[in-house]
Amino acid sequence: MERTLSIIKPDGVERGLIGEVIKRLEADDLKIIAMKMIHMTKAQAEGFYAVHKQRPFFESLTTFMSSGPAVVMVLEGENVIGRYRELMGATNYKEAAEGTIRKEFATDIEKNVVHGSDAPQTAAFEIAYFFNSFEIVR
Ligand code: CMP
Repeated sequence: MERTLSIIKPDGVERGLIGEVIKRLEADDLKIIAMKMIHMTKAQAEGFYAVHKQRPFFESLTTFMSSGPAVVMVLEGENVIGRYRELMGATNYKEAAEGTIRKEFATDIEKNVVHGSDAPQTAAFEIAYFFNSFEIVR
């Protein structure tokens, strides 16, 4: 069993895609074991994406991620990190496979609707960044 952090980013929430994303998670048997809506401050977004601090897109990304509400979720299942990444599609929606969330809904490499952890260690950091143990079911 594995866990991953999922975020429906501010563009996804703004455009009414919460239901669309959750429908796809459930259809693929990715179990939601925690969920809440948050509005990150700039500092919180900077802490979350600290690994990208030196990248040229850091300032723009953290401004975008703190621009409106987002939905954060913990997903659990076998190989859930990889399975969720498959549902999302490539970071750059132009390279994403047909039928993926980003291919169908992303409008920009930054405004790409969803985020998912890329490895077990990252997932552990990202889950603990938003959730304490009482907020995670079972
Ligand atoms: P995410 O999976 O949340 O991880 C980092 C985010 O930075 C990425 O999705 C995009 O929203 C954003 N981003 C903006 N420009 C780039 C880029 N050139 N390469 C990778 N990520 C980018």
